[in-house]
Amino acid sequence: MTVQPTPASATPEGGHLLELRDLHVEFRTNEGVARVINGVSYHLDAGETLAVLGESGSGKSVTAQAIMGILDTPPAFVRSGQILYKGEDLLTRPEEQRRQVRGKEIAMIFQDALSALNPVFPVGWQIGETLRQRAGMSRADARRRAIELMDLVKIPGAAKRIGDYPHQFSGGMRQRVMIAMALALDPKVLIADEPTTALDVTVQAQIMDLLADLRRELNMAMILITHDLGVVAGVADRIAVMYAGRIVEHADVRSIYKAPAHPYTKGLLESIPRLDVRGQELSTIKGLPPNLMRIPSGCPFHPRCPYVQQVCVDEFPHDLVLGDGRTSACHFAQEVRDDSVAR
Ligand SMILES: Nc1ncnc2c1ncn2[C@@H]1O[C@H](COP(=O)(O)OP(=O)(O)OP(=O)(O)O)[C@@H](O)[C@H]1O
Ligand code: SF4
Ligand SMILES: [Mg+2]
Repeated sequence: MTVQPTPASATPEGGHLLELRDLHVEFRTNEGVARVINGVSYHLDAGETLAVLGESGSGKSVTAQAIMGILDTPPAFVRSGQILYKGEDLLTRPEEQRRQVRGKEIAMIFQDALSALNPVFPVGWQIGETLRQRAGMSRADARRRAIELMDLVKIPGAAKRIGDYPHQFSGGMRQRVMIAMALALDPKVLIADEPTTALDVTVQAQIMDLLADLRRELNMAMILITHDLGVVAGVADRIAVMYAGRIVEHADVRSIYKAPAHPYTKGLLESIPRLDVRGQELSTIKGLPPNLMRIPSGCPFHPRCPYVQQVCVDEFPHDLVLGDGRTSACHFAQEVRDDSVAR
């Protein structure tokens, strides 16, 4: 079977557009085996935005690279799991078919986007290159489409700026160019990996607004990877919180903000300033993420968790499904949620 390009809404009956099932990825290095992704499961439907959130090193980018089929192998190896796109497991597809999916079906804006532009070519040429190579467009058509794409991402005076070089654009405008390149082949899923990290706060907000607008206009599904819970509120439908290569809490945005059901999510929320609460005390999560070559026993979060009990040290917490369809990988998910409501 091959993965044929189909409309965004075309998902297998009852299935999701994209679904990760129990994905495990490890890095085999001279120092040992790092278990980087440890059973990640999440899904995405047409037109919706899932925010994937977690501290540095939690495995957000590696998961995205696995979806794109661009893991650095070796040292990275997918140990087990499935990545279903329109019901077909991409992990079992030959490289040629994965290449077809990349960019055309699922595109990615990379974390180091600003350095990904080639300094010696005009931005319009770089956008057009994808169109010429992948969509077989003529130079003239690719140029026309590049201007349209620059317009789409709201670069002022696109037609005049198409011959400008990357250094002639501000950081925010360069990020818009990267978004235009990702959209060139009209993907159904856009993975945005920390798209605003290198930008100042005002520009960050503008880029997030742009991504939200584009998602609506193009009916694209989006995975928004970030370590900043503050930026996702107005953009995402659901949030998957990652810790040590696993989704520890998964819920719709409103529920998570109202009452987190995992101590790690609660810690993340308490460490961001809230405009609606006066005189709040901000806290940080104590300790550091674990060494992925020596993940703690039981619950990997236990050395840092304010709710820890002996059972957390002894027993691995499987996903607990809460009443409203949320999941939390915590032995005390209900108690943590109730405690969050009470505060
Ligand atoms: N090439 C590699 N070799 C060995 N380990 C790697 C390699 N690439 C990533 N890792 C490890 O995989 C883990 C997850 O990395 P990943 O880049 O997915 O984190 P992240 O959640 O995206 O973090 P950040 O917020 O910093 O981008 C990290 O512990 C990292 O050290
Ligand atoms: S299982 Fe225990 S250690 Fe882990 S998050 Fe829940 S309370 Fe904390
Ligand atoms: Mg990353």
